[in-house]
Amino acid sequence: MNPEQIKQNQPLRFLVFSVAMRKDSLNGKLAKLAATVIENHGGKADLAGMNEFDVPSFNQDLESNNTHPQGAEEFRRRLLANDAFIIASPEYNGSMPGLIKNAIDWVSRFRPQPFNERHGLLMSASPSMAGGNRGLWSLRIPLEHLGARIFPDMFSLAMAHQGFKADGSIENPVLAKRFDDNITAFMSLVEAAKNYPCMKKAWVEFLGEKPDPVTERVE
Ligand SMILES: Cc1cc2nc3c(=O)[nH]c(=O)nc-3n(C[C@H](O)[C@H](O)[C@H](O)COP(=O)(O)O)c2cc1C
Repeated sequence: MNPEQIKQNQPLRFLVFSVAMRKDSLNGKLAKLAATVIENHGGKADLAGMNEFDVPSFNQDLESNNTHPQGAEEFRRRLLANDAFIIASPEYNGSMPGLIKNAIDWVSRFRPQPFNERHGLLMSASPSMAGGNRGLWSLRIPLEHLGARIFPDMFSLAMAHQGFKADGSIENPVLAKRFDDNITAFMSLVEAAKNYPCMKKAWVEFLGEKPDPVTERVE
């Protein structure tokens, strides 16, 4: 078997993490369930905690020579070590929590820029009736700006404080099926992208500018 075939036969690897750091986080439960569904369908889940990606408030003065805080280094390492990522994020004040935007900002400073061309799936859980879905629309913006391919379907669990069974699965069977379907559809796309990669396009930080051919960055 040649190295390319070996690569194709390896299980798909997914970085899965919840943005919330608290112990009883509903989004933590959703992330854990996503990891279980991935493994049930033959993938490999790399379940992380947001505390592993913790970084100070972004300050350009702290940047030096492609070296960044340890949490940003770890976030980049785990993005690159997996084929795709899944984020379960709470909605804070109608938007994404500041800590994920701050972490994305730090990671966006690496070259090559690690979000470029990576596939991502977004999900949320909230005690509210909308399930935190507005936060996911805001989270799409920086990720898509950075060239990540965010899956069109997102999953939001409304009234999530009553939404889980004791074993961590979703109480409502219709929603449980939808969750499973959402993840398996994403897995199929990641598999297709891994085996039939699109032609590489340079990532340009601001549209209309031409990147440097070596760094792929507009200096
Ligand atoms: C600062 C803050 C702002 C919040 N804003 C919203 C909001 O806009 N929409 C919403 O559905 N829930 C909001 N909530 C409630 C969270 O959805 C709820 O606390 C949820 O359980 C947080 O996710 P976690 O369980 O994963 O920690 C907010 C909570 C906090 C702490």
